[in-house]
Amino acid sequence: MNIQNCKLVELPKITDPRGNLSFIETGSHINFDIKRVYYLFDVPEGSVRGGHAHKQLQQLIIAISGSFDITLDDGFSKKRVTLNNPSQGLYVCPMIWREIDSFSSDAICIVMASLKYDEEDYYRDYDTFISHVKKD
Ligand code: TYD
Repeated sequence: MNIQNCKLVELPKITDPRGNLSFIETGSHINFDIKRVYYLFDVPEGSVRGGHAHKQLQQLIIAISGSFDITLDDGFSKKRVTLNNPSQGLYVCPMIWREIDSFSSDAICIVMASLKYDEEDYYRDYDTFISHVKKD
């Protein structure tokens, strides 16, 4: 897996004078069943979240409100993506080290995840992650 597999996904946007509506459907916008949804909110200025990789987990990350930056790192190259549009999601495949920073004060980061929470699925140590990536 590498960062080329991590892509921005344009979600449908039904514009309406009463307010816009976007949605996510498995098979259309993501290729995994959603087993869990979690979100980050009230993130203090200067905070950095993430700082780990997942062995199996696939995710779609959306800035449902405000903005933040995500740095993706597959052990060989890095890319930085700004999310600031609730009708766009960033698909993150397994085995990608990610850090999320530059949260705006109104930022809400919502994540659609392919698996339930499992600490065993994490690499929390960067050097361990790198050694696994380089040996595969
Ligand atoms: P973590 O994944 O490290 O957060 P982030 O990547 O946003 O910095 O999770 C932080 C804590 O929350 C950690 O103790 C595990 C717990 N947690 C759950 O219990 N369930 C979840 O679905 C998630 C994502 C985290």
